[in-house]
Amino acid sequence: MRTVLLTLAAVAALGLAGAGAVVTFGLYNVSAQAGHLPGVAWLLHTTFRNAVELRAPAMDKVPPLDDPDLIALGAGHYASACAFCHATPDGARSATARAMEPPPPPIDEAVAHWKPNELFWIVENGVKMTGMPGWPVKGREDEAWAVVAYLETVKADAAPPLPGADAGAAYCRSCHERIAGPVPRLDRLSPDYIEAQLENYRTGVRPSGIMSHAVSLAPPESFADLARELAGASLPDREVAVTGDAAAGRDLAGRGTRDVPACLACHGGEDRKGPLLHGQPEDFLATQIRLWRDGTYHHNRLMVAATRDLEDADISALAAYFASLRAPE
Ligand code: HEC
Ligand code: HEC
Ligand code: HEC
Repeated sequence: MRTVLLTLAAVAALGLAGAGAVVTFGLYNVSAQAGHLPGVAWLLHTTFRNAVELRAPAMDKVPPLDDPDLIALGAGHYASACAFCHATPDGARSATARAMEPPPPPIDEAVAHWKPNELFWIVENGVKMTGMPGWPVKGREDEAWAVVAYLETVKADAAPPLPGADAGAAYCRSCHERIAGPVPRLDRLSPDYIEAQLENYRTGVRPSGIMSHAVSLAPPESFADLARELAGASLPDREVAVTGDAAAGRDLAGRGTRDVPACLACHGGEDRKGPLLHGQPEDFLATQIRLWRDGTYHHNRLMVAATRDLEDADISALAAYFASLRAPE
């Protein structure tokens, strides 16, 4: 028995010494041009597939993905954040992307063998040691689902056209003046508020993978000009048909508690402390209120206090109420 143990220990020590030598003397060739040794690529890909299958959320956690606004938002993000590696559905990958090891597959191949819950896991987490990035912030599953909504249209061969990915105000407009649903309108906000939010996205104080990516394409010196230009747009009121209980929302918005003023005290009148919420899309409002309530956002003490005790039904009622309001003259 003792001899067996000693032999095993010796073999283990030799193995460790061998691995140590590979690391210390640089014996393993990390060249992307050399590719992986036979078998290694298979090993890595099988590990990847099984890891995703194990960790992806259950299929019944997949939200509805057929909302055109959600798909358009995912497409807008895809165009500037993913297409330079995976190409557009009808485009070709750059020679440099193809030279990666492993190369990012063209997007129609990349989505083909994954279910939506698995695509969600990949978009949210990325894939270690491949170049496939994870979502830039934590706690924003809602945003990763928007990208999955777009990827599902690629799978079904029904993808909408992608906007151009040039930076500047036109790029911002491609989402903010074209898409409702999860995307806020900016024309009713003050330039100061817009600029402060751009800074919050840049520093991560307000976590959003979509907006932190978008602001990283614009130099901070341009924030003031962008804010003035986008706040100054005059867009028509949208026809809104809300789904939540707007009447219940009106009561809640005017109520407040002993410790916290009513929503309307800060979001209603002339000298309000917070941004105007009137006519913002219902989905956007519901998501934002939920992010405050759940503690994903905590950059404003008053908003944390005002939302702490809201039930899900209160949130959808409040979102419906503010979405149905016209902007004050
Ligand atoms: C820097 C390049 C790069 C960027 C940017 C990138 N990816 Fe990837 N992606 C990769 C690589 C490399 C892989 C891994 C390929 C492998 O393991 O075979 C991958 C894998 C994937 C896969 C799984 C495909 C498979 O079966 O291997 C999907 C789906 C995917 N990416 C979607 C996206 C989406 C959506 C975005 C944007 C949010 C994105 N990628 C951004 C490089 C990139
Ligand atoms: C791919 C679509 C997309 C693009 C492009 C985009 N945005 Fe956004 N923007 C969003 C979404 C979605 C949100 C909501 C994010 C959140 O949850 O905080 C948002 C939020 C904002 C907000 C916060 C508004 C509020 O009511 O608090 C500002 C300000 C903003 N964006 C400005 C810009 C500017 C400036 C650009 C161009 C540099 C830009 N956006 C580009 C989708 C986009
Ligand atoms: C004491 C003032 C105050 C009260 C009360 C208040 N808010 Fe706010 N709210 C703010 C401020 C200030 C912000 C901007 C915070 C920031 O991002 O800097 C804000 C942000 C928001 C946003 C994000 C808007 C956007 O465009 O991004 C929503 C939605 C919101 N509040 C809803 C509500 C609701 C619903 C209530 C009532 C339950 C409420 N607020 C109560 C001050 C208040």
